[in-house]
Amino acid sequence: MTILGGIDIGGTKCAVVLGKVTGDGVELLDKVKFPTPSTPEAALAALTEALASLAQRAQIKVDAIGISCGGPLNSETGRVLSPPNLPGWDDIDVLSPFQAQFHVPVGLQNDANACALAEWKWGAGAGTRNMVFLTFGTGMGAGLILGGRLYTGANDMAGEVGHIRLEPDGPVGYGKAGSFEGFCSGGGIEKLARSCAKIWLDEGRAPSFCKTYDDLPAITTEKVGIAAGEGDALALEIWQTVGYQLGRGLAVLVDVLNPEKIVIGSIYARQQALLEPVVLRQLEEESLAMSSSVCQVVPAGLGENVGDFASLSVALYTLEADGSQ
Ligand code: BGC
Ligand code: NA
Repeated sequence: MTILGGIDIGGTKCAVVLGKVTGDGVELLDKVKFPTPSTPEAALAALTEALASLAQRAQIKVDAIGISCGGPLNSETGRVLSPPNLPGWDDIDVLSPFQAQFHVPVGLQNDANACALAEWKWGAGAGTRNMVFLTFGTGMGAGLILGGRLYTGANDMAGEVGHIRLEPDGPVGYGKAGSFEGFCSGGGIEKLARSCAKIWLDEGRAPSFCKTYDDLPAITTEKVGIAAGEGDALALEIWQTVGYQLGRGLAVLVDVLNPEKIVIGSIYARQQALLEPVVLRQLEEESLAMSSSVCQVVPAGLGENVGDFASLSVALYTLEADGSQ
């Protein structure tokens, strides 16, 4: 019986999960979630402690531990390198605290790579040799499975697609106006909605999700999603823009990588009905037909729990790499 420990370090929340490998799947045994402590030292102490208590409660020993975290980071050295959503995590060794306490293989991967591994092993990407996973959550990042293995690049920076510029101007994401993360992320959609709503208000109109100037700061991606579901014209227009830009981003990936599948998380899974037709139309229009015709675009198969499976898949990946050495 193989027991895996999974650690998910997020900008606002951390999750610690325990899983059991079952044939070609994995069973979630236990989980705990808490707000990310404000310093890396406090966070790592809380995370090792949480994993130890989950294992103790289940009276089992973990065989490997996987850590998933937003980049930039270096999976070879196990160091987290100042990710934008984790202030203070500047060149932090995240492996040692776990190695010292549990004495098992411990691995670190970028969150998007971790999700790609999970969807490839247990989700919508199972059976493919070439697939791209896109986070499309708080940020936009890609995990690349190419030729039947995870592709990480020269220094672990492969898949930082959020930085790709899609338009000369537009919402800022990844420090760049008009970027893929600017248009296609929770933070980006919020900024886009705010600037569109402001234009409407200036013209004497008001969308249902923002009646007055005072409502501007409170706009969230979720509110724009609800408003679109209720038929609000501006909200629908915003999702059209997001879908159009997502389609353009996918076209770049399809032309470069020729994947069989693109699996998209979070916001795509929730807004698939609105986004899919626009995304597919734009993808078809802007990429080579020979490539786009063989590429399926699907929402994450592991759904909202993809993050839990992501850290567990890093544990399994680390265990397999350890065994093959
Ligand atoms: C980060 C990526 C990460 C993505 C999703 C981006 O802002 O640069 O490393 O994969 O967000 O969290
Ligand atoms: Na990546």
